[in-house]
Amino acid sequence: MLASKRILLVIGGGIAAYKVLDLIRRLKERGASVRAILTRAGAEFVTPLAVGALTETRVHTDLFDLTEEQEIGHIRLSREADLVLVAPATADLMAKMANGLANDLASTCLLATTAPVMVCPAMNPRMWSHPATRRNAETLKRDGVVVIEPASGRMAERGEEGVGRLPEPLEIVAAVERFFAGAGGGALLAGRRVIVTSGPTLEPIDPVRYIANRSSGRQGHAIAAAAARAGASVTLVSGPVAIPDPPGVTVVKVETARQMLAAVEQALPADVAVMAAAVADWRVATETSSKIKKDGSGRPPVLDLAENPDILKAIGQLGFGRPAVVVGFAAETDDVEANGRAKLARKGADLIVANDVSPETGVMGGTRNTVHVISADGAEHWPTLTKDEVAERLVRVIAARLGAAP
Ligand code: CTP
Repeated sequence: MLASKRILLVIGGGIAAYKVLDLIRRLKERGASVRAILTRAGAEFVTPLAVGALTETRVHTDLFDLTEEQEIGHIRLSREADLVLVAPATADLMAKMANGLANDLASTCLLATTAPVMVCPAMNPRMWSHPATRRNAETLKRDGVVVIEPASGRMAERGEEGVGRLPEPLEIVAAVERFFAGAGGGALLAGRRVIVTSGPTLEPIDPVRYIANRSSGRQGHAIAAAAARAGASVTLVSGPVAIPDPPGVTVVKVETARQMLAAVEQALPADVAVMAAAVADWRVATETSSKIKKDGSGRPPVLDLAENPDILKAIGQLGFGRPAVVVGFAAETDDVEANGRAKLARKGADLIVANDVSPETGVMGGTRNTVHVISADGAEHWPTLTKDEVAERLVRVIAARLGAAP
């Protein structure tokens, strides 16, 4: 059932667009509310009137319709959805999505959305098997988009047969239901084991003093929660934080970097490791068991520091038993992307989530985050999102890398 699910349907141009009228009916029968965007090409195949009659809402057709823009901006349109469903997704629409083009309402919404996206390609078999389309489909999957395989059979063009048909509406409905099945949408990480580190570490100087990093733990905790909602079995190894434990997660509380490393090693094996903790790089080399007193000389004590183990590097460079996806964070104040890239290589990570933590961004301790997700394939620049949205999106990217997307 799809009760109360809000689906934004993007209808591309193709003869299969006629099937979408039935798809809308089927989705609505199951309780979903459907809004539709009809591309210019889509409107050559089905009319806004027919789509509007079935969705029972106004159909959105043109980015530059100013009245519409005032009524409901495209950003809002794209975000007020639990799922953006693109059907039929033409080769052209997929190419635009894969390359981040935004020159009409459909592609702009697809670029602006923070909701999960599912595409149902439908095109001529030769277009579907063309290396460019294969590449675009792969890029979309890597970006966390769910790509439904087209069906095979006779095409509209006379005599043509092969893979490229839009699946029947009920099959698309089943894929949508599968996507929403499981708490939080998709059970994308069902059966997976995920380790997340979060919060700061505290490195004692003596029994009353410590060295620490700034970290609220919000982003790491949000990732643990999102992974659990996606069906994963999650161990969250957290330094001291003032926020509640996320539901459905095994929480291991630690203080120091060395304890954090031991807890992470203890939680292995795992499919995914997300190291979001702000680990103190140094600890005091000679920790004393008694409080350091002022000696009256006016000279402060000299602290000898030793380097802490690098947990991300230890896991990223594990030989046997390395998690399939290792994600690190890079909190930077300068050259965010370049530093993130260097960190990716140095630490043996698959993804680095780099964020600008300069004081003026308000990221530290705040609820929003602007991140760049860096992998060997390049950098993705995400819009400013809440830490929960970053977490949800990261879970989708991780699931796609694990090949778990339905
Ligand atoms: N990290 C870790 N263990 C450490 C230090 C860092 O696991 N001892 C992880 C963090 O959780 C984060 C990533 O490494 O995922 C980036 O940490 P950061 O401190 O920014 O990187 P450094 O390698 O310490 O580089 P620098 O301080 O020079 O920026």
